[in-house]
Amino acid sequence: MAYQFDRARYDERMGWFLHDRFGMFIHFGLYAIPARGEWLRSDEEMPEEDYLPYFHEFNPTALDARDWARRAREAGMRYAVLTAKHHDGFCLFDTATTDFKSTNTPFGRDIVAEFLEAFRAEGLRVGLYYSLIDWHHPDFPQYGDRQAPFRNDPVRGCNDDRVFDRYLDYMHEQVRELCTNYGRLDLLWFDFSYDDLRGDAWRGTQLMEMVRSLQPDVVTNNRLEVSGEGYGSLAACRPTPYHGDFVTPEKIVPPTGIRDAEGRPLAWESCVTMNDNWGYHATDKNFKPAPLLVHKLVECVSKGGNMILNVGPDATGRIPDESCRILDEIGRWMRRNSASVYGCGPAAGGPLDVRPPEVGRLTRNGNTYYFHLYENALGPVPLLGVPKDRIEKIRRLCDGTEVLLSTSWTHSDYPDVAFADLGPSPVLPDPVDTVLAVTIKEANAR
Ligand code: GLC
Repeated sequence: MAYQFDRARYDERMGWFLHDRFGMFIHFGLYAIPARGEWLRSDEEMPEEDYLPYFHEFNPTALDARDWARRAREAGMRYAVLTAKHHDGFCLFDTATTDFKSTNTPFGRDIVAEFLEAFRAEGLRVGLYYSLIDWHHPDFPQYGDRQAPFRNDPVRGCNDDRVFDRYLDYMHEQVRELCTNYGRLDLLWFDFSYDDLRGDAWRGTQLMEMVRSLQPDVVTNNRLEVSGEGYGSLAACRPTPYHGDFVTPEKIVPPTGIRDAEGRPLAWESCVTMNDNWGYHATDKNFKPAPLLVHKLVECVSKGGNMILNVGPDATGRIPDESCRILDEIGRWMRRNSASVYGCGPAAGGPLDVRPPEVGRLTRNGNTYYFHLYENALGPVPLLGVPKDRIEKIRRLCDGTEVLLSTSWTHSDYPDVAFADLGPSPVLPDPVDTVLAVTIKEANAR
């Protein structure tokens, strides 16, 4: 039977995802030991025998998933996604399909199980990242594949004896294990399709039928069809059986958000690194300042998207200090201002045609507009597009303080514009992002 996309079911399962807006990505694996990023086997065209020592050595004794989970929750993140298997093929779970797994290393523990338990205990939604690509499996193409470590080596990369169907059996079985052995998963994050490897080349129809039968409510991304590039079939309004539920722009915030071909806003999630790598990288110190990341989160929400922010624990299992500091700082802002993030989306579609502040952003939850001020005005702050008689109340989100409309003579030439009076200090109370919550009355209410 032809696949039938069920929009009502889709909207139902997407509820939490669209509400929560902010998640933690965790990239962890053997690559934390060489600490040159998670792509090093490919980047360095490294043969497996040079990689296996990390497998025999792997022992992140400081790994404490409860610590990861606490830090995520305190940063205001509402969900988390861990790499159950990355492109190197190493499994962080106790699969029956291979010996190349964390339970077979000196560490001996099922990291996926520990992650799920700890994050659920903190009240967060849980997801697993699963790499469709596998540079360890003998049946995954190497020579000529543009990413495989042996792409340039016709001898060791030779594909003559590789049977891709065998790999697909293996891959499907691993996904089945993940969907069967670990309770309810909120999210599955596949990675990724390229060239001819997309959709039914992964036996995507069969895979998604299985996933949906085992985890009826799981939200999935769109990378059974595309990668960080490309929107997928849901965006095109021609959903395949393996369409994802959301688009996955990588290291970018889509400049104007994302709509489907019929103009409906489409769910998306920007995946963002704190520095330049997903896996731990010892010399990559290009960390984005926390205030910038707060602004990017707000930007995502203002354009109708989510942000999933990555941490790459080091070889001991600890989240790097720089990342901890960033999480703390984001948490400080989120603790007081998360009402302008959770459950929020773009201003467009609301009761009024409100304009964002001069320097800042605008988010909205129902009748409440959140003005995110990144720079103060000279004097009172104009709220463009908000008629004075439609304002029910204005509050400073950080402490609930009432904000009155200004009566200063300075703006007497702009009688139609509502100006918020933040008081005599020229410096905004929160230098990162001072949020004004402006609640609007119904049109006919008095
Ligand atoms: C990319 C990379 C990968 C990373 C992922 C996260 O596709 O291959 O290393 O895990 O994006 O978005």
